Amino acid sequence: MAIRELRFMGDPVLREKALAVAEVTAELRALIADMFDTMYAEEGVGLAAPQVGVGDRVIVIDARDDDVPPFALINPQIVHFGEELERDEEGCLSIPGLKEIVERPAAVRVEAIGIEGERVEIEAEGLLARILQHEVDHLDGILFVDRVSTLKRKMLLKRWQKVKPE
Ligand code: NI
Repeated sequence: MAIRELRFMGDPVLREKALAVAEVTAELRALIADMFDTMYAEEGVGLAAPQVGVGDRVIVIDARDDDVPPFALINPQIVHFGEELERDEEGCLSIPGLKEIVERPAAVRVEAIGIEGERVEIEAEGLLARILQHEVDHLDGILFVDRVSTLKRKMLLKRWQKVKPE
C-alpha cells in the first residue's frame, strides 16, 4: 500500500470522464488500498480515482460516522436524487485551500459494485449523500466549483491562482 500523488485542479485528468471498470482485479484492489491510504494521509472523507491520476470509475469514502464503516465503490451510479435540497460547505483534496457552500439533493440512492464484485445499493442522506455526489461528480470530470453560481466560481478561481500548490 502506498500514498499516491494527488492531482490538483488544472490537471486535465480531473476533467476527463472515467471509464467503467470491467473486472475486479488485484491491480484494482491495490489501487483501492492506495486510495484509502492517500485519503487518510490527507484527512479527506472521500477520494475518486482520477484524483490520483487513474481514469477508472472507483471511489472510496469514510464519512467518519461510527455507523458507516469506510467503503469503496466500483462503477457507482446515482439512480435516484431526493427532491429536497441542502446547502453545506464543501472542500476537495484536489482543490486545497478552497471551500464553498454547495447546494445538492439531500438524499440519494446509489447502485455500484463492491470490492468482492458484489452488487451494492446504498440509500444515503446528509453528509454521506453529499460525499457520494461529490465523488461521483469526479468520475464525470465535475468539480465542486462547477456547482456554485458563476459569480462564486469566478471568485474561487481567482483565489485558486493564489493558493494552488506548485
Ligand atoms: Ni473532491
